[in-house]
Amino acid sequence: MKIEVQELEPAKKKKIPTDDSKLGFGKHFSDHMFCMDYEKGKGWHSPRIEAYRTLQLDPACMALHYGQEVFEGLKAYRGEKDGIYLFRHRDNLARLNRSCERMVIPQLDLDLVSDALKKLVLQDKEWIPKSPGCSLYIRPNVIAVDPFLGVRPSDSYLFYIICGPVGAYYAEGFNPISIYVADKFVRAVQGGVGEAKTGGNYAASLYAQREAQEKGFSQVLWLDAKEHKFVEEVGTMNIFFRFNDELLTSPLTGSILPGITRDSVIKLLAKWGVKLSERRFSIDQVIAAQKDGSLREVFGAGTAAIIAPVGSFQYKGTNYQVGDGRTGELSQKLYDFLLDLQYGREQDDFGWVERIGAF
Ligand code: COI
Repeated sequence: MKIEVQELEPAKKKKIPTDDSKLGFGKHFSDHMFCMDYEKGKGWHSPRIEAYRTLQLDPACMALHYGQEVFEGLKAYRGEKDGIYLFRHRDNLARLNRSCERMVIPQLDLDLVSDALKKLVLQDKEWIPKSPGCSLYIRPNVIAVDPFLGVRPSDSYLFYIICGPVGAYYAEGFNPISIYVADKFVRAVQGGVGEAKTGGNYAASLYAQREAQEKGFSQVLWLDAKEHKFVEEVGTMNIFFRFNDELLTSPLTGSILPGITRDSVIKLLAKWGVKLSERRFSIDQVIAAQKDGSLREVFGAGTAAIIAPVGSFQYKGTNYQVGDGRTGELSQKLYDFLLDLQYGREQDDFGWVERIGAF
């Protein structure tokens, strides 16, 4: 299928933000978007790049009522020698199709989507910020658009990709964040949709997230839904705990998002000879380790957040400091290395980085 490309007239183009220090996350959107439609019997059709616009949706559209939708999050970087780089984007797209499968959404042709994504990024390349740590965030999304109120999978869908310049996800930047361990509410259950990137998982997190924020915490740390005991993930990232010289992260139990950054951290640590296990561990173990001094560092890993060091956490009303409360050595090393890789400055032994063009 050929991707039709429409270019917005120069006079209609938006003003690109000039102060990267004020970008924040998810507030600005570039001039174009990619769209493609699906109809039962016809399949995916009409791939096109067009001007960024509001969507016209029937108020009975199924995504709005029953949440049949999936999305992805990835980034394009303006890096070495003014090149434009993508990081493991095929892994994000493969995960998108797995999320589609779980939410009964038709599979996408990933070669076509990859091509569309690159074309869109190159068309809006002026929107990729220059400053270190900033990037163009890319958000593919699939929504069910049948105007129908019965509960069944939709017969028609809209796939679109939007993008926009972003800086740090957290107000703290790369400084340690504090997290709130949810002891009453849960994010996802085994057998549910926790491992799919679908909006409902994020909607389900909002109540506890609000509670956490009211108490002054940036994020919620979720425990397993059955025993409220085992550490699972943080709202927008996977999480790693360092006990002395061993790192632990939860295995992919089905209720956890299989993060691309999570996987990159695991592979990098293995290459560096750092001991890491994907094993279930409880919040009680974490607290015991904090008390006996063996809890050395904690960090989150995700596309939006990259690596987010955790300086403290609260569980059942008690605050606990992690190590000396500052960014741990591995968190810093991973952050620096991942950024160097993503910006094309570090040798890529994994085949993760693709230079798709230049300025
Ligand atoms: C990402 O890390 O890209 C995510 O999708 C998290 C997002 C919900 C902010």
